[in-house]
Amino acid sequence: MADPITPVLTADWGTERAWQRQVYERRGGYGALRKALQLTPEEVIEKVKAAGLRGRGGAGFPTGVKWSFIPKDNPNPTYLVVNADESEPGTCKDIPLMMATPHTLVEGVIIAAYAIGAAHAFIYVRGEVLQVTRRLQAAVAAARTAGYIGTDILGSGYDLQVTVHSGAGAYICGEETALLDSLEGRRGQPRLRPPFPAVAGLYACPTVINNVESISSVPSIIANGEQWFAAMGTEKSNGMTIYSLSGHLANPGQVEAPMGITLRQLLQLTGGVRQGHRLKFWTPGGSSTPILTAEHLDLPLDYESMAGAGTMLGTKALQIFDETTSVVRSTLRWIEFYKHESCGKCTPCREGTWWLVQVLMRIEAGQGEEGDVEKLLDLCENIGGRSFCALADGAVGCLTSAIRHFREEFEAGYHTPAWELFPYRRSALF
Ligand code: NAI
Repeated sequence: MADPITPVLTADWGTERAWQRQVYERRGGYGALRKALQLTPEEVIEKVKAAGLRGRGGAGFPTGVKWSFIPKDNPNPTYLVVNADESEPGTCKDIPLMMATPHTLVEGVIIAAYAIGAAHAFIYVRGEVLQVTRRLQAAVAAARTAGYIGTDILGSGYDLQVTVHSGAGAYICGEETALLDSLEGRRGQPRLRPPFPAVAGLYACPTVINNVESISSVPSIIANGEQWFAAMGTEKSNGMTIYSLSGHLANPGQVEAPMGITLRQLLQLTGGVRQGHRLKFWTPGGSSTPILTAEHLDLPLDYESMAGAGTMLGTKALQIFDETTSVVRSTLRWIEFYKHESCGKCTPCREGTWWLVQVLMRIEAGQGEEGDVEKLLDLCENIGGRSFCALADGAVGCLTSAIRHFREEFEAGYHTPAWELFPYRRSALF
């Protein structure tokens, strides 16, 4: 049994040529696939359910439960789609995972596809990261040569094709239904849910869509057992996970640690906030999750504790900002991102994010008008929960939480520019 703090997914990140199939096999790779093929698909699903693995893309939906939603006596093909469109600001865990050990994902894909009865799996990769697409294509080709992909895999009678597909660089295509539209060759825009993809997904067929880290966690669960995984983390948020730490830190980067660790502990492990500075605010899961402050350093990083603090664990992208940061400017920068990435399908998101940027720009310039904070909150009221997908909710969450914690900074923007209140290089942060 592994020690709970022993890295699992990142264990081989320092191993030379860990991306090669032979190196992966020497480290026990594809052993979990052999084991899974001895089990029935239902048994594999039960193991993942019992492990308590929850979706690592942000929402934390139980992975095994999602797999079990695939209708049993369905005449249409079933598909597995891996969401490798990692784009949430501050999130940088899936891309290094795929670059360092792509076969962990490929092995997970084969096991997951076997469990849900899919004969074709797709890996949808973010368009900007061509090197990841190439690495995955090479890994899939190597797995096919070894007989892990193709017909009659390892003599089991199970057939699977795997396609690596590159997106075109749109944040919205990380939203699962927009991803499906994009994969089908259309402009990526969210679909109305329900029906959820489990019922009508790719080509209107039952489809499971999982994040890279979720699928990459499957081989170790099959290899080490569901109890091993369930013993790590907290009662309801199980296992190890990868946290992306960025911003004003002594040593930014990725850290693998159990679910439920606190930011204080992570900072102790990594060398803390950059020397001579102190924490001002942080995001638990990228800019789509409401911000927290130094008061929340001891909150466990798990789904339940984050919800209790009025935020979300999200992608576990911990963006750290010290006291030199203007919260107005960083929020404006985020909202500009959402405005730019809004797909334009629904009015509250398309128009609302544009208006938020207009008001925030004048506050940043010290030209805000009395009542602008109320205006921002009113706009947020009319955007959050009223748009087609979670993109606009993310924009609203970072802004309302920033106002909740730092209202006086926004109101100071009625008379003083942010660059006078925070006189540092304007480009220091981004
Ligand atoms: P969601 O909670 O609506 O759905 C989560 C998953 O569970 C989906 O796959 C959905 O199909 C499935 N599901 C939920 N209810 C279901 C039901 N009744 N039947 C069948 N399946 C069901 O969350 P959503 O909108 O998919 O994702 C939002 C999250 O994405 C946010 O928490 C955010 O942190 C994260 N995010 C991640 C990004 C990244 O780069 N990784 C980018 C932007 C947001």
